[in-house]
Amino acid sequence: MEIVILPDSDAIGSLAADAIGSLLQRKPDAVLGLATGSSPLAIYNELAARCDAGSVSFAKASGFTLDEYVGLAADHPERYRNVIDTDFVSRVDFAPGAVHGPDGLAEDIPSACASYEAAMAEAGGVDLQILGIGTDGHIGFNEPGSSLASRTRIKTLTRQTRIDNARFFDDNVDAVPTHCLTQGLATIMSARHVVLVATGTGKAEAVHHLAEGAVSALWPASILQHHPHATVLLDSAAASRLQLADYYRETYQAKPAWQGI
Ligand code: F6R
Repeated sequence: MEIVILPDSDAIGSLAADAIGSLLQRKPDAVLGLATGSSPLAIYNELAARCDAGSVSFAKASGFTLDEYVGLAADHPERYRNVIDTDFVSRVDFAPGAVHGPDGLAEDIPSACASYEAAMAEAGGVDLQILGIGTDGHIGFNEPGSSLASRTRIKTLTRQTRIDNARFFDDNVDAVPTHCLTQGLATIMSARHVVLVATGTGKAEAVHHLAEGAVSALWPASILQHHPHATVLLDSAAASRLQLADYYRETYQAKPAWQGI
């Protein structure tokens, strides 16, 4: 796991956009794994600017979102399918229908989850997965206690996650759905490169467990310690509980820029 501590969100967005840009140059039809929420916004803003400037194109690429609330109406602005369209997809040049998400309105949820896994496999698997992390250590919506071998399925959101996400629902925790469909931890582990972003002191405890704690279902993101190519991009606040922060800083400063992440 490579840990990179950067000055701010703009620097995080720029470094992640470099990695995605270089992937798309090598492989224009790359498959991207897309997270929603606040953490990836700096990446999406930077990619939208580079797409406008003509230095990156998603015309042949495709995408799969990580998760979706169960039961939110198709036109609900907080439905993740709509959020990713607003925050990213509509701002770049993906071909129509190139970005997919789990169907949170499906009548047959197990079959919708199986179809989603099949569609990702059919596309050749995810080349680069963007992730945020919950204050309780979730990735996707794999809440504490999730099976480390899980695939896409329905999960119950913790009270903490619903409180954290109430900011998107007029601060009304009761308006936050109780269930979601999420890629599983094994699904996320199948991506060839995972780039996790965390900023702010609210994420510091989860980041500590992700990088330096025991691998445990109690802190689901810790499974990424087993990933052969996981990159964690942090600001100083999110890195503030890392025991080896100075070592991570030194290591990254000594790394030749051409190597990328
Ligand atoms: C969103 C997702 C979640 C978020 C996490 C952090 O698709 O899968 O794991 O990444 O809850 O959310 P933010 O970035 O809003 O703090």
